[in-house]
Amino acid sequence: MTKPLPAALNPARLTALAAEHGTPLWVYDAATLRERAVSLKRFDVVRFAQKACSNVHVLKLLRAEGVKVDSVSRGEILRAIAAGYRPGGDEIVFTADLLDHATLATVVEHRVPVNAGSIDMLHQLGAASPGHAVWLRINPGFGHGHSQKTNTGGEHSKHGIWHADLGAALAAIREHGLKLVGLHMHIGSGVDYGHLAQVGQAMVGFVKQAIEAGHDLHAISAGGGLSIPYRRVDDRVDVDHYFSLWDTARREAEGLVGHAVTLEIEPGRYLVAESAVLLAEVRAVKSAGAKRFVLVDAGFNELMRPAMYGSFHAMTLLPRDGTQRPLRDCVVAGPLCESGDVFTQAAGGEVLTRELPEAEVGDLLVIHDAGAYGASMSSNYNSRPLAAEVLVDGDASRLIRRRQTVEDLLALEL
Ligand code: LLP
Repeated sequence: MTKPLPAALNPARLTALAAEHGTPLWVYDAATLRERAVSLKRFDVVRFAQKACSNVHVLKLLRAEGVKVDSVSRGEILRAIAAGYRPGGDEIVFTADLLDHATLATVVEHRVPVNAGSIDMLHQLGAASPGHAVWLRINPGFGHGHSQKTNTGGEHSKHGIWHADLGAALAAIREHGLKLVGLHMHIGSGVDYGHLAQVGQAMVGFVKQAIEAGHDLHAISAGGGLSIPYRRVDDRVDVDHYFSLWDTARREAEGLVGHAVTLEIEPGRYLVAESAVLLAEVRAVKSAGAKRFVLVDAGFNELMRPAMYGSFHAMTLLPRDGTQRPLRDCVVAGPLCESGDVFTQAAGGEVLTRELPEAEVGDLLVIHDAGAYGASMSSNYNSRPLAAEVLVDGDASRLIRRRQTVEDLLALEL
């Protein structure tokens, strides 16, 4: 079954918002964000990987639902603080594989716990801030992902402390008097239940190693990676099954450490992907040989996922005159000066077609499931200002990021 849009993002609503704010436009649905947060309540801590969508108002909304946050840059830490997250406790954790100078200063200033993906981070942090709270992100030697680019475990990956170096990392923690909070793994984006039992068991082995080396710890993190059904609604991940696999690992860890262990999860995509659409207007329709091109006013500078990974996003065409149109195969593409600026493409760049109602200039194109790695991966390529973002909450809607202007861009240079 193809996927319906969130109830609040109905065609009339989207058409009105596009008329009010212009296109391209990101539209988020608060109800979906809340519903996804609530569905993960069995985990002790749900920590949002804000790289998926770092708008301060989305962060505020998730914080109100009890969701904590993972930040991967100084900018993300400052965004979290701007959204009301309190640094110094466990509300914000900084995860990375290196510490640049400015970020090191910021984590020390705000006492943000650091999830270290390299031993150098431990030395640098230890020298600057003895006693600082740390997590260890471990690369268990295997991983998975919807694309090789999102597979973060194994020898090809720059992420995490290689499992064989865990002993050296624990020694660095001791050397600097750092405080170990917990162990973390994030081995990729995309769920594979068969794999998960293996990941859980690897985690238990690492906990054992830490305890045997004389450390105590209070938490384990399952990382992110929960998938969402981009193509078919029946592909939805079974959160209870996912929880039970990790809960088993947690209980074994508790047996080893001799006290309660908090189980964290760190989703990005799962919390936000389905909450938003990207709206674009059809501005030109043309043919090239047998191919029919529908050109819209959003490009890969807005939504990079199809160009970067060949990702599939469902699309709905809303004819401006409300008429029923015959279905036609078409290539959906954007305004950028590159042949790769195509929303319908395969991972290798092959241009694909999509069956949509015959498009005309002025129609609205709705690109679904755009809430994760959409606005947050946008760029100013071709000197295109960042698009506006709107949050719909029941009958209300408000602008949560104004559209950038060319003057904003030029201000950095002139
Ligand atoms: N935790 C860590 C340490 C991560 O690196 C990531 C994602 C997550 C959690 C959240 O993963 P998620 O639950 O969203 O799968 N731009 C790509 C995804 C890159 C993911 C990077 N790290 C995409 O558009 O699919």
